Amino acid sequence: MAFLRSPFSGDPPPSLRDGRALIRVPDMGDYEQWSVLRAQSRDFLSPWEPIWPANDLTRTAFRSRIRQYWRDIDEDVAYPYFIYDSDGETLVGALTLSNVRRGVAQTATLGYWIGQPHARHGYMTSAVRLICDFAFRHIGLHRMEAACLPHNTASVGLLQKCGFAPEGLARGYLKIAGEWRDHLLFARLSD
Ligand SMILES: CC(C)(COP(=O)(O)OP(=O)(O)OC[C@H]1O[C@@H](n2cnc3c(N)ncnc32)[C@H](O)[C@@H]1OP(=O)(O)O)[C@@H](O)C(=O)NCCC(=O)NCCS
Repeated sequence: MAFLRSPFSGDPPPSLRDGRALIRVPDMGDYEQWSVLRAQSRDFLSPWEPIWPANDLTRTAFRSRIRQYWRDIDEDVAYPYFIYDSDGETLVGALTLSNVRRGVAQTATLGYWIGQPHARHGYMTSAVRLICDFAFRHIGLHRMEAACLPHNTASVGLLQKCGFAPEGLARGYLKIAGEWRDHLLFARLSD
């Protein structure tokens, strides 16, 4: 049994919304929309992501994904959220606070993707602002980090719009599309 360290004591972390987006923790009921959106966005997303496992879009793999999400939440290691439109009907993307480090760091790493049909509609701006609120006010973090490929103009623009400042180039930071790639590091501090 997992050692429970979550500040939510086994309850789900809260759903959060603004006028454009709703973010909430994923469950099995999200599988159909998630698998369709990921499949139709594959060419849009894959240049910026680790290589997708062959079984990635199967229901079985999604079930394992959900179980892992809940272990991570229980252990205060990561907080995965799916992004819906403001009425909560249409899944548009996802973002995750991962690698939560407590003690003297109180830091986590932010990752995100939007489905291609929903790109440039302001969903990720809303979602990042909501998860910043979650990180700083609900779980008491002090700092959020994010990294992106230097030529990912969409991601750089998003981070700057959401108050993240550039901190430098990290060499060979992540294996993206099968290759170790340098990344620009960004961070935002709590107010
Ligand atoms: C990066 C990404 C998450 C942005 O999501 P989004 O919902 O489209 O972002 P928003 O509509 O909220 O736009 C926020 C800002 O990002 C920048 N941006 C978004 N798409 C852009 C594009 N195609 N070209 C240039 N800038 C772009 C702009 O600065 C934009 O602000 P503006 O519309 O006021 O100019 C999305 O493009 C994506 O998933 N890309 C592929 C995967 C990826 O890059 N993941 C992140 C890896 S680090």
